[in-house]
Amino acid sequence: MSAARRQIIVVKDAPALAQTAAQRLVACIERGPAQTAICLTGGSTPKRLYELLAVSPWREQIPWPRVHWFIGDDRFVPQDNPLSNTGMARRAFLDACAPPQNVHPIRTDVATPDEAARLYESELRAFGASRGGGPLFDLVLLGVGPDGHTASLFPGFPAANETKLWVAGVPVANVAPFVPRVSLTLPCLESAHEVLFMASGHDKKSILSRVFAGEYLPAARAHAASGETIWLIDEAAAPQKTNDHSVHAR
Ligand code: 6PG
Repeated sequence: MSAARRQIIVVKDAPALAQTAAQRLVACIERGPAQTAICLTGGSTPKRLYELLAVSPWREQIPWPRVHWFIGDDRFVPQDNPLSNTGMARRAFLDACAPPQNVHPIRTDVATPDEAARLYESELRAFGASRGGGPLFDLVLLGVGPDGHTASLFPGFPAANETKLWVAGVPVANVAPFVPRVSLTLPCLESAHEVLFMASGHDKKSILSRVFAGEYLPAARAHAASGETIWLIDEAAAPQKTNDHSVHAR
């Protein structure tokens, strides 16, 4: 993805990152269609954001009945397993705030990740059809792993180069947790009005340097096909310099 199409927002620290992400999420919902679709990410970074959505002032700003929540990837474990991305989001805010029918998890109570992928793809395609075309998601949240993966699209792995399927089974993970995964593919994650990456902490500085230098990594390749791609990072994660001119300090 060219640097010109990537906007970098640098905020002070993890709490500021969560607040800024909440502001962007609420703004996205406000301008979104009658059935707004948000694709959540897993990992540890978004947890602070998710917990904010369940409390004032954010909870009352979200029109919960008209927002649908999807997940960009999940570990192929039961939702009550601590490794479950959906389980983490449910415990942080979904179960307390969202109508159950508006929560669209990847099924992990089936035999294989591939079967789960096929079922989720059918659900996504049906939801997309109900939106009457255009991008599938109004907002896609993403993170970046130490190897440059995003969702569960690991560099050099087949799913990262999938161009037709919207959801793929990922039998082997490249980084911990080493459990099978199910992941939306780049064509699906990119079907969005906005893609918002979140990265926080000193440990992200090295991989962000590689991403912003344009290395061919899944996290560097992912971008909103019909809108903005924002990298929301804190000062601890910010590389010394970036070749992006669209760097905004907040
Ligand atoms: C997952 C995530 C993954 C995550 C990155 C960053 O299932 O693990 O979807 O893509 O976003 O690994 O994770 P942290 O936020 O924990 O650094």
